[in-house]
Amino acid sequence: MRLKDKVAIVTGAATGIGQAIALRMAQEGASVVVDFVGQINAADQTEQEITKTGGKTISVNADVSKADEVEKLISGAVKAFGRLDIIVNNAGVEKKIAFIDYPLEELQKILAVNLVGPFLVSQAAARQMIKQGQGGRIINISSVHEDLPMPTNAAYCASKGGLRMLTRTIAVELAKHKITVNNIGPGAVYTPIDADIEAKPEMEKALMSEIPLDRWAKPEEIAGLAVYLASDEAAYVTGATYFIDGGMLRQAGSY
Ligand code: BGC
Repeated sequence: MRLKDKVAIVTGAATGIGQAIALRMAQEGASVVVDFVGQINAADQTEQEITKTGGKTISVNADVSKADEVEKLISGAVKAFGRLDIIVNNAGVEKKIAFIDYPLEELQKILAVNLVGPFLVSQAAARQMIKQGQGGRIINISSVHEDLPMPTNAAYCASKGGLRMLTRTIAVELAKHKITVNNIGPGAVYTPIDADIEAKPEMEKALMSEIPLDRWAKPEEIAGLAVYLASDEAAYVTGATYFIDGGMLRQAGSY
């Protein structure tokens, strides 16, 4: 058990990568707060799966882009489990529209969830971790697109590029408190965020041609790295991005 007695919050944990990380962290002994927005049935299911395997969990409906809901999320975790050790900023949204047509409201929504969210959650979590005095772990689920341009996805790419520099900056700022901050940059992972591509064979084929390993990643393949970064073994790792992309960045082009 690599996360015994730790308390973790995973945002956007009702489905996809967040759900896989929540389950895996619980299996490693952490008490897990499943954050979600709206998807109550999916969040219930994640909660049940964790409980089934003997894990401790609660779920909290909190929109990470709203400061008062973030406070509720952090204080809910501390009230339920007494402390907070690990944050996984996983919640994310995406909408592909040509740049010249991109509506301001969509841009604002994507930046709010993907960038303002991790900012607010990390800030509130860091305050709690500093109070506890025993360090902590902040893990952001970024994307290959913190580095790699993707036509029609300017808002998402901008949010992930911002997340890259948020991570680097606060990693330096929080180091004196033994709080580490790292990004995981997945490539194509088979989750609901890519429903548009999964539903269209020709789009899927084009995407696969960008990936040397020629397949989607499974959400569980991201969870293993999240557990490592959250564990005591990773105490000297900070300010970094680790890509899990089947080699995509080494064969970059646009599809
Ligand atoms: C995006 C997906 C995209 C994948 C690979 C992810 O960050 O969410 O839409 O397919 O990167 O390009």
